[in-house]
Amino acid sequence: MNFEFTEEQIMIQQSARDYAQRELIKDVLERDAKAEFPTHHVKAMADLGFLGMLVDTKYDGGGMDTVSYVLAMEEISKVDSSVSVIMSVNNSLVCYGIEAFANEEQKEKWLKPLATGKKIGAFLLSEPEAGSDATSQRTTAIDKGDHYLVNGVKNWITSANSASTYLLIAQTNPEKGHKGINVLLVDRHSPGITLGPHEDKMGMRSSDTHSVMFTDVIVPKENRIGEDGFGFKFAMKTLEGGRIGIAAQALGIASGAFERALQYAKDRKAFGTELINHQDVAFKLAKMHTRIEAARYFCLKAAWLKDQGKPYGTASAMAKYHAAETAMYVTTEAVQIHGGYGYVKEYHVERLMREAKLTQIYEGTSEIQLMIISRAIANG
Ligand code: CAA
Repeated sequence: MNFEFTEEQIMIQQSARDYAQRELIKDVLERDAKAEFPTHHVKAMADLGFLGMLVDTKYDGGGMDTVSYVLAMEEISKVDSSVSVIMSVNNSLVCYGIEAFANEEQKEKWLKPLATGKKIGAFLLSEPEAGSDATSQRTTAIDKGDHYLVNGVKNWITSANSASTYLLIAQTNPEKGHKGINVLLVDRHSPGITLGPHEDKMGMRSSDTHSVMFTDVIVPKENRIGEDGFGFKFAMKTLEGGRIGIAAQALGIASGAFERALQYAKDRKAFGTELINHQDVAFKLAKMHTRIEAARYFCLKAAWLKDQGKPYGTASAMAKYHAAETAMYVTTEAVQIHGGYGYVKEYHVERLMREAKLTQIYEGTSEIQLMIISRAIANG
């Protein structure tokens, strides 16, 4: 086992940290309050090569490894997970899904602009009645010979408005169950696509989340990825990597809150001494730090397995489960250490706590991760 990072990995981590601590921090509170999309930061992420960092240079991506991706995601998420969720969905759901499973023509046309960040992408799986139970897709893509005719509603779609490319999961042959599901590349500006209002979320408020309605949308047959009926497996394989991104995001939220709590405990005095000299605060910080380190190892292990071409589905579920639970625990304790100051916006920890909650919900709830882990244990 080698716990050292390469020079390149350290450089990527440093450049993400510099950008987050210098630029993201400036307007994060204002964007959170106004639920304002971070347009100029998304452009900066593209310029830094972070929107397609995992994509091969052959397709105009950054050609970086998954360990580097975890390091960058952690640094951006320490400050602003509204930006890191856009980065995560684009990299590990949309770009990965196309690069791993699409044909060469599709990659030339759809992947290259996403890898450079000229365009961004959205992943349309969830529906009003198909969240955790992802096989129950109601959106239909009816085979009409040379095209599919799409009707239905998708829910909770990250980057629904800002994305130009949709990866749409839809049911073509309901009688075949999950084996009748397809995945289609869809131009977001196709006639018949309308969006619901911007969701007024508890956290990650400046990323744009909407429902998306499809009414008789025509999608050319050549936009299907893989064989007929490949859509559900595509979604499951893609989510395995997506969960590494969200685990790293949760890790960043936790470590961002920890750094703030530690500093506060060193600066603030009560009962004649700094808070950190009170054993209850010191023990809280020790527990937070230990859980964060464990979450970091889980994230890096899953990333390393992916980079080695080894199976990583269970490892990514464990990383996501542990990191999300840690983020919720650590941010709650960080608010407690701050006392009344923790409950007001200017100290950031209440916002990090709101962001942490989402990591226990999206890309599979904590309970879904436990389902995946327990099935893996049962099947040896
Ligand atoms: N890789 C490949 N195939 C897989 C797989 C995987 N990881 N997991 C399941 N499959 C296959 C199975 O082998 C099975 O195929 P066969 O019938 O050919 O054997 C098929 O898929 C069905 O599998 P299951 O019987 O295990 O399916 P299930 O109904 O029990 O559900 C589940 C499995 C893991 C719970 C799945 O439904 C799931 O992951 N649900 C959560 C969905 C989710 O994460 N949604 C997030 C939305 S995206 C998002 O949040 C993005 C964003 O905007 C931030």
